[in-house]
Amino acid sequence: MIVAIDGPAGSGKSTIAGQLAARLGFEKLDTGAMYRAVALAALERAADLDDEDIIDELARTVRIEVARRAGERARVLLDGADVTDAIRTPAIDACVSKVSAYPGVRQAMLDVQRRAAEGHDIVAEGRDIGTVVFPAAEVKVFLTADPAERARRRVAQRHEADAVAPSDDELAQELQRTLDAIERRDQLDSSREVAPLVPADDAVHIDSTAASIDEVVARIADLIQERR
Ligand code: DC
Repeated sequence: MIVAIDGPAGSGKSTIAGQLAARLGFEKLDTGAMYRAVALAALERAADLDDEDIIDELARTVRIEVARRAGERARVLLDGADVTDAIRTPAIDACVSKVSAYPGVRQAMLDVQRRAAEGHDIVAEGRDIGTVVFPAAEVKVFLTADPAERARRRVAQRHEADAVAPSDDELAQELQRTLDAIERRDQLDSSREVAPLVPADDAVHIDSTAASIDEVVARIADLIQERR
């Protein structure tokens, strides 16, 4: 069975997909992590991000794997190196949309994603899961939330482990920067020509702005129950 969860940055896809997968005993497939790994490979090689041919070639030749160990967070490997943390930086946030808009990059990742799902029940999250990657998914969810709430979540997540909390001023500035970055990325992801961020016709829309994670997870678990 395939559960597809699509939506913009910060809508809660990753957390919700993770909890659903754990609850159902499914594998979670984080497709954004794969595009992030391609972006990291490009930055590490100082590749010209505007050179589509070079980035396409890179996406075809790097080895991207998801390593899972029971009870642990899945690790993302780029040519064998653990890049799980290195792909979650503002520098990657800023260039991943450009890299992921190239059709050649998308084709390469499509192959990686379909192969990773073979033989598993999965909860896959991304932007084009229900429309392109797994159009026959049994359950499709389009998860949204207000941009300001999504920015607030991102910032809170970033400071979760801080020993010293940032000042109110610093927080306000970071919130604004994050909101700008999120809106820029939404715009790029929704307007690209290949596999843009749009809901599948048969997706169930869920707005998580005012809902708790548990509420959204319970709602999707009900949908899965109905289709099983
Ligand atoms: O979900 P995320 O923020 O980790 O995704 C990073 C970027 O990857 C996002 O800005 C757009 C791209 N992406 C995509 O184009 N298609 C997907 N299925 C998943 C992510």
